[in-house]
Amino acid sequence: MTRSQIEYDDTQGLVRFGFGALTEACYVLARVRSVAAARSWLHLAPVTSAVELDQAPATALQVAFTAPGLAALGVAPSVIAGFSHEFVSGMTEPSRSRRLGDVGSDAPAQWEWGTSTTVPHLVVMFFAKAQRLEGLMKDLMGSGWNEAFDELQRLHTGDLEGHEPFGFRDGISQPEIDWEQSYEPLGPHVTYGNRVALGEFLLGYRNEYGKYTDRPLIDADAASEGLPSAEDAPNKKDVGRNGTYFVLRQLRQDVRGFWQFIVNQAGGNFAQAEMIGAAMVGRGANGDPLAAIQAEKIAGIEQEPEVIARNQFTFDADALGVRCPIGAHIRRTNPRNTDYVGRPDALKRLIAMLGFGQNGLRDDLTSSVRFHRILRRGREYGPGLSPQDALAPAPPGEAERGLHFACLNANISRQFEFLQNAWTMNSKFSALTGENDPVVGNRQAITGCPVTGRFTIPASGRLRRRMSGLPPFVTVRGGAYFFLPGLRALRYFTGAMR
Ligand code: HEM
Repeated sequence: MTRSQIEYDDTQGLVRFGFGALTEACYVLARVRSVAAARSWLHLAPVTSAVELDQAPATALQVAFTAPGLAALGVAPSVIAGFSHEFVSGMTEPSRSRRLGDVGSDAPAQWEWGTSTTVPHLVVMFFAKAQRLEGLMKDLMGSGWNEAFDELQRLHTGDLEGHEPFGFRDGISQPEIDWEQSYEPLGPHVTYGNRVALGEFLLGYRNEYGKYTDRPLIDADAASEGLPSAEDAPNKKDVGRNGTYFVLRQLRQDVRGFWQFIVNQAGGNFAQAEMIGAAMVGRGANGDPLAAIQAEKIAGIEQEPEVIARNQFTFDADALGVRCPIGAHIRRTNPRNTDYVGRPDALKRLIAMLGFGQNGLRDDLTSSVRFHRILRRGREYGPGLSPQDALAPAPPGEAERGLHFACLNANISRQFEFLQNAWTMNSKFSALTGENDPVVGNRQAITGCPVTGRFTIPASGRLRRRMSGLPPFVTVRGGAYFFLPGLRALRYFTGAMR
């Protein structure tokens, strides 16, 4: 597929851009009040596509729907049933909560939004350059909005200039989408690459297995005529094409608790505390990785010097985690492994295929990361707080701060949920014991593992450091699975194709 054939014009911009230059944003969670008014507002909404303009736009608008939201808009149950089970059953289905680690103080019963009557039907995302957000929202919500929707929440976002609230640079590593579909995902991958098949992020295209992810395929009729045909079933219309799932979770961060805990662990030595914090994340506060930058090029890492200096690394040369702890947040969420970890030659691969020569438990859970990538699109919220100021006690009534974690993926269970469950919440990740993700872990006991609050920093030639009693630093405050449709599908949902 050549660049001109890429369907940027039918894809919402958020898939291609993080809208980083639009530093102000607000996510409005709403429920449909009147179907007719909602359809008409959505039909007129100037939703931003992924087409690159000569000049970056000053504002952008994106919309995404939950399964109850599609039903509320009048989309037929048979069409909704064609979406993935995770999307249809929702983020708070009880067994899913257990798997996501949404238990105890993270349980949906404690959430501010996202359960029973507070499940949103849709999220409308407004993005704008500095000082432009209020005007944008006023303009777009002026006519018809109040008749169309009941607002549940406005999720305001902040701008900590590229840092998340704990103070670490964020948004550095992202997979590169193979928009041109020029790369061949099939066959064993023996070297780590950052490029990922288009079908991992957009429905209607081949994914890393060379297959098409399930999505609603419907018969052509007057209502669906304007939809694209399915690549794998040309006589059907593809409701999913150029759409993707948008996972949104409001994660409150206890910034004071984070710094107070690690400064205490460091015996009051701030420089040492910063090193512990970096070990927990896997990068220093400025974003530099603890792993060594390698000379060999990683496919799909852009050639800009800053990107190379921050992303051209794997953990292959650091099997014991001496430079970057095995349990560090970025090593858990992207172990940068291949299908045949550490087996570059054919004989070793054959031995591995036959089930011999496994490197303990380590390889089992961390190989083939190419099936488990997500595109992160989160934004922070709440006032900034420097690590030094975080050492003081909280003033009464202090405002909450955290991350509106957001990611895009075509297969929620294989991508977001796998990262969350098998990698961040798993206290046996990569043969570790008794620890879950030091940054986002919930510290809840799980079957067979009553302790999850440790963190180990391996060392070479001296004793490793093992901390215990890590409190949870992140609490889930709300969340939902949305579908971010292609623009033709959006018109279909609003009945505008008739
Ligand atoms: C409040 C919660 C969180 C904080 C403070 C946080 C912080 C960070 C930071 C500082 C980085 C390094 C910057 C970068 O590589 O771009 C990072 C990377 C990353 N995080 Fe998180 N994160 C949070 C939640 C999550 C969750 C819930 C997930 C997924 C389940 C996740 C997945 C990732 C991934 C995939 C990367 C990139 C790893 C790589 O490719 O090297 N994060 N995060």
